Amino acid sequence: MQIHQYDVVIVGAGGAGMRAALESSTRVRTAVISKLYPTRSHTGAAQGGMCAALANVEEDNWEWHTFDTVKGGDYLVDQDAAEVMAKEAIDAVLDLEKMGLPFNRTPEGRIDQRRFGGHTRNHGEAAVRRSCYAADRTGHMILQTLYQQCVKNEVEFFNEFYVLDLLVDHDLAAGHVPEGEEVTVSGVVAYELATGEIHVFRAKSVVLATGGAGKIFKTTSNAHTLTGDGMALAYRRGIPLEDMEFFQFHPTGLAGLGILLSEAARGEGAILRNSEGERFMERYAPTIKDLAPRDIVARSMANEVREGRGAGPNKDYVLLDLTHLEPAHIDAKLPDITEFARTYLGVEPYTEPVPVYPTAHYAMGGVPTNIEAQVLRNETDVIRGLFAAGEVACVSVHGSNRLGTNSLLDINVFGKRAGISAAAYAVDAEFVELPEDPAATVTAGLELIRTRPDGERVADIRKALQESMDLNAQVFRTKESLTQALEDIKALRKRYLSVSVQDKSRTFNTDLLEAVELGFLIDIAETVVVGALNREESRGGHFREDFPKRDDEGFMKHTMAYRRPLPTDGHRQWGGGDGDTEGRFAYSEVFDDYQLVLGSKPVTMTRYQPMERKY
Ligand code: FUM
Repeated sequence: MQIHQYDVVIVGAGGAGMRAALESSTRVRTAVISKLYPTRSHTGAAQGGMCAALANVEEDNWEWHTFDTVKGGDYLVDQDAAEVMAKEAIDAVLDLEKMGLPFNRTPEGRIDQRRFGGHTRNHGEAAVRRSCYAADRTGHMILQTLYQQCVKNEVEFFNEFYVLDLLVDHDLAAGHVPEGEEVTVSGVVAYELATGEIHVFRAKSVVLATGGAGKIFKTTSNAHTLTGDGMALAYRRGIPLEDMEFFQFHPTGLAGLGILLSEAARGEGAILRNSEGERFMERYAPTIKDLAPRDIVARSMANEVREGRGAGPNKDYVLLDLTHLEPAHIDAKLPDITEFARTYLGVEPYTEPVPVYPTAHYAMGGVPTNIEAQVLRNETDVIRGLFAAGEVACVSVHGSNRLGTNSLLDINVFGKRAGISAAAYAVDAEFVELPEDPAATVTAGLELIRTRPDGERVADIRKALQESMDLNAQVFRTKESLTQALEDIKALRKRYLSVSVQDKSRTFNTDLLEAVELGFLIDIAETVVVGALNREESRGGHFREDFPKRDDEGFMKHTMAYRRPLPTDGHRQWGGGDGDTEGRFAYSEVFDDYQLVLGSKPVTMTRYQPMERKY
């Protein structure tokens, strides 16, 4: 076992992690630990753009952007955070430009901007051009630009290191921390893929920037690596996860595959049609039509299919029509996604519509933070030295439905804030003592799986989990479907206890790490499903057919999911100081050796009162 010591350790080398590293590394000694080479991080798959009210091509301002974000999130957005993001968006784009990011330009040489779903002029009057972009490779360009800057600034990377435990001085999952006691982070434990060696990183500050968890679903735009690691590490230590029931289904995944086909296509004029050739979004969102927010478009598409107006031999998808766009325009603005349609579906987008269907894309929920990126352990108190940014975090700027292009913005604004906050904390803080044998749990867990002679196959359990989530917790949900998903998860958790791997070696054992990642996926899926069962209303990306209306009276609150020890008196116990212990959120679900307790957190409202959400 090797022990390292840094002021700040950043876990994850996507956009949020590297943006944090650029700030932190100029102030204090910083390491970035990543399970991938940084340029393979999933930020690179983001296509359509990063929004900011630059007003380069049309009138715009940050207040309209804030409003759209709040309304797009169905009013579950913390409005102070949305305001910070919309205001700081402009500098965030200009920072990237100064770092060398090759944005598309207007004929006058300004950064060009295009339309995206839910971004409007003057509080919903019409779609506005707010998204700054580099063709349909914006995430790729951001990732390359940030990595170049990190290399220039000599940021220390530990690549292909998997962080498998978060070290804190009080384990909240093992019991309540005494009244008035602080909880402080002391580092992380990581596994080096190349050698199988365990590394302990002692740190004053840890920044979680590990991205999302799309692989809980079968049909997803997310890469194989998006297994919710940072969220699960926090949850296992009793740190709550916020609003996990809200998962975004991007309307235009390539049908049957889930591969992302950017909303930029509709921003550039593409139209969704059903089997009758009808532009059906005119019925669902008469003002902004195909550029309505994703939750509305995805539900409308699924509804068309359910009502028999789906296209194709099985009538199970709709069509994205780009055939009226000039081929030269398509080539200039959408080169990658049109190539995906040709390669993966054999469809020529110049002349044929592309089969599309919603695909699991983005977790609105995650590790709760305040606007300084400090991680919360309940409604108000922070974990000292722990920070989070990007998709792993829930700040909550996206509420119950994220607007397209607010994600690349989020990673830049809150990644930067996380880096500054983590470094500032580290300047004044002392290192906390490590536990006596800091890697004991990780080592024992890995060895158990690696050496188990025979058992359940990782791929079988993962497939069953993903299929159940697709069937029961996708665009449309009911009490029955979610109860089925929860039963499936409980059964799979039992099977996971005897999981084994075929590769018994100690080096480059990706088989072993997939088994560990499967454990993370099961944890995350259970928080999604339990949160969704409890939320008996429909809001943003969470649609309950049995409760089709938004219920502000009962549910205008963030869900907080806590892992806690089993109740000792045989009865279920509620939050016990972890949040709301009454009403709709007084709920717990008992698993074999712990319980998942739901609490709540108020939504921060500043300028905007909830209204009916129409487009
Ligand atoms: O459609 C897209 O290009 C995706 C963008 C996003 O998720 O923000």
